[in-house]
Amino acid sequence: VTPSGSADVVIVGGGVIGLSIAWRAAEAGFRVTVCDPDPGRGASWVAAGMLAPVTEAAVVEAALTSLGLVSARMWPTFAAEVEAASGIDPCLRTDGTLVVAFDSDDRRALEELLAVHRALGLSSEWLSPVECRRLEPLLSPRVRGGVAVAGDWQVDNRALLGALVGAGHNRNVEMRRKAVVCLRGDGTRIDGVELDDGEVLRPAVVVLAAGAWSGQVGGVPPSARPPVRPVRGEIIRLSGPADDPVLLRTVRASVQGRSVYLVPRRNGEVVVGASMQEAGFASTVRAGAISELLGDAIAVVPAVAELDLVETTARLRPGTPDNGPILGPTPVDGLLLATGHHRNGILLAPLTALALVAVLRGESLPVEAKAFTLERFG
Ligand code: GLY
Repeated sequence: VTPSGSADVVIVGGGVIGLSIAWRAAEAGFRVTVCDPDPGRGASWVAAGMLAPVTEAAVVEAALTSLGLVSARMWPTFAAEVEAASGIDPCLRTDGTLVVAFDSDDRRALEELLAVHRALGLSSEWLSPVECRRLEPLLSPRVRGGVAVAGDWQVDNRALLGALVGAGHNRNVEMRRKAVVCLRGDGTRIDGVELDDGEVLRPAVVVLAAGAWSGQVGGVPPSARPPVRPVRGEIIRLSGPADDPVLLRTVRASVQGRSVYLVPRRNGEVVVGASMQEAGFASTVRAGAISELLGDAIAVVPAVAELDLVETTARLRPGTPDNGPILGPTPVDGLLLATGHHRNGILLAPLTALALVAVLRGESLPVEAKAFTLERFG
């Protein structure tokens, strides 16, 4: 695409991925429109904001871990630049993550996790129960040991979304609060985006960044349809005194085999998550999921029982067959993908934006992203 003329790029989906691409593409000189009936209110709104290439590494493979590590290294600059561009601080916190084990089976699983980290060349460190409580004094005395992961950080995802909207606005990104009915084209190229009020936009390129719905958008030729499925996540927001926090850093725990994370913010908020359930597009909040998460969080940090329950929410992660995102070109002219970020959308936003802007400029994908095109699914 030549970065000039009208409607260079339409981005379908205004979550953290679509908004990051929109801002970076506009900075690069493209004229960008984002279509989303409710921008910034999907999965990225309820996310915990963890930037966790290491503690998410146990359940995924090495290429995805490398992708996450590269994107994590981009975060300090990305956070500073989005703040400078918007005046909104996304509250990057680099105080690391502590993973703890609740019983002896959990401890064995954590020892295996440490072995996975070592095999991947990651510098995680084993901590005794006493060392865990030295870092986090309000941990339950039952905790049987832990692993300190210095490189897994967090941002405030909601502040980030506000910052991305602001940064895009300041670069003249046009926000269309409309649903996309379908893409138009002849099967080999996309030449239009039809909105729910009947208007048809005619950009040179469409970026499909519609999260869990990316496989459902009408008019996408079968050869370009991303294999994305919804994975429900239920999550809880608690609130406590900012000047007397229950935790100083993100704590993840295995409690009798179940995973829970607690992400403390400087304003006293603690985000507790998250369930994983494949039930189509159902996105209600199940009582049992909330009860289990809260029970496990309180088992690990008993003082959590005293916090105020502010919010329980559910959204749909965009899952893919190999848990990796789908980035860049498709066999259909004028259609790019930026979807399937599953549990790692916030983490992978900087690298995704870099990759998509490279493709828009006619350059090749960054080397780490090359393994994550649609082509890998055959
Ligand atoms: N990345 C955390 C989650 O998806 O729950």
